[in-house]
Amino acid sequence: MQICRDRQAMRDWRRQAGLVALVPTMGALHDGHMSLVAHARDWLDARGGGRVAASIFVNPAQFGPNEDLAAYPRDEENDLRLLRDAGCDAVFLPSVADLYGPGAQTAVEVTGLSRILMGRLRPGHFRGVATVVTKLFNIVRPDAAAFGEKDYQQLAVIRRMVADLDMPVEILPVPTMRDADGLAMSSRNRRLSPAERAAAPVLNRALDRGARMVADGAGVPAIRAAIRRIIAAEPLAGIRSIDIRDAADLSRIAAIQRPVVILLAVRLGDVLLIDQRVAQPKGDFDVC
Ligand code: PAF
Repeated sequence: MQICRDRQAMRDWRRQAGLVALVPTMGALHDGHMSLVAHARDWLDARGGGRVAASIFVNPAQFGPNEDLAAYPRDEENDLRLLRDAGCDAVFLPSVADLYGPGAQTAVEVTGLSRILMGRLRPGHFRGVATVVTKLFNIVRPDAAAFGEKDYQQLAVIRRMVADLDMPVEILPVPTMRDADGLAMSSRNRRLSPAERAAAPVLNRALDRGARMVADGAGVPAIRAAIRRIIAAEPLAGIRSIDIRDAADLSRIAAIQRPVVILLAVRLGDVLLIDQRVAQPKGDFDVC
């Protein structure tokens, strides 16, 4: 596995790499990330083969002033071992100084999608994500890039950006990986105390209930109330937001007539966990 610690090294590797699928990450890798690598590999194999590149970069631009960038978990040695074992061909590990040169003043923002939902809780977050993903795409020039469905709004922002800016990259959405008790895998889970970790599957239980109610034809207020009750029964959990939106474009809905996505943001101690579930009312629909 080739380790590229700056933009020049990455560009040099890319020139001889053929078809490339990129897995952008912020490190602290787990099985969810390995599933992104596996999807990237499958996409390449279906096209006759190619190289998987991952990036590890804790992006300061997507952390707000009150969010603890310094506390974000970092474990480079373990990350490199996992990527090597998963058959990754190259990893891009730029420094902040290398990626954001002096005097940088350009940002990319998907204006509508970035300012709703998590974008209201974390102003500037999605502008930071869109900017760094654009930079990664410009440096690595991947043919495809894999992103987890757990970060549903992030995926929507990136798809919109790629479509709006005619970026020649196919976006590969990858289903959420869960621990045996249903907790969505996330690098943030390792910051939970044992008691918070034991409480955290409440998000998945609430989503299960919400999805069943959507299938049974319940309305938005009743579903939100049921989800709120389940989470409120867990003393360590603090609800930040419960949203039920159109699954295709995250627009508001009054009645559920098409597939919806239920989006949760719940605080456990210092850690903000997010999770999501796409749910279908009875009938035949396509989610795009
Ligand atoms: O999902 C993440 O890990 C990050 O937001 C991403 C896409 C790597 C951009 O920093």
